[in-house]
Amino acid sequence: MIKILIIHGPNLNLLGEREVDLYGKTTLDEINRSLKKLAHEEAVEIKIIQSNSEGEIIEAIQKAKEKAKAMVINPGAYTHYSIAIRDAIASVNIPAIEVHLSNIYAREEFRAQSVIAPVAVGQISGFGVESYLLGLRAAINIAKKNKTSR
Ligand code: DQA
Repeated sequence: MIKILIIHGPNLNLLGEREVDLYGKTTLDEINRSLKKLAHEEAVEIKIIQSNSEGEIIEAIQKAKEKAKAMVINPGAYTHYSIAIRDAIASVNIPAIEVHLSNIYAREEFRAQSVIAPVAVGQISGFGVESYLLGLRAAINIAKKNKTSR
């Protein structure tokens, strides 16, 4: 079965209580349930991790090498400055879809730069929980297309 890695970065464990005006009331558990439902419908296997630590995120990306056929990642604030996460994505050669709940281009200036975007297949930003579901759909399409190559 096709395997897809989903990574939630720092502070996303607090969804539902964190800056609800920006990020909504949906909790991370609820997002994960929706992702699992979609994965089930599409007959793919997903592995979901959340970490507040840059090193753990890098390790999860490295471990996915030769296992996951695509990944969906919301790097949280690391989006804007983690060259190490960017390099990890570039190193493993797993197509990555970058997702954000909020529209990072409509907020503070420092959020309008993503160091991850240049190594991602594409980015989905601003659709709330739907960003993750759109991201997973994109990942599934890519993974199914590349099925024979890995
Ligand atoms: C975020 C946007 C980031 O700028 C912020 O640091 C987050 C969440 C989003 O999903 O909108 O933690 O990645």
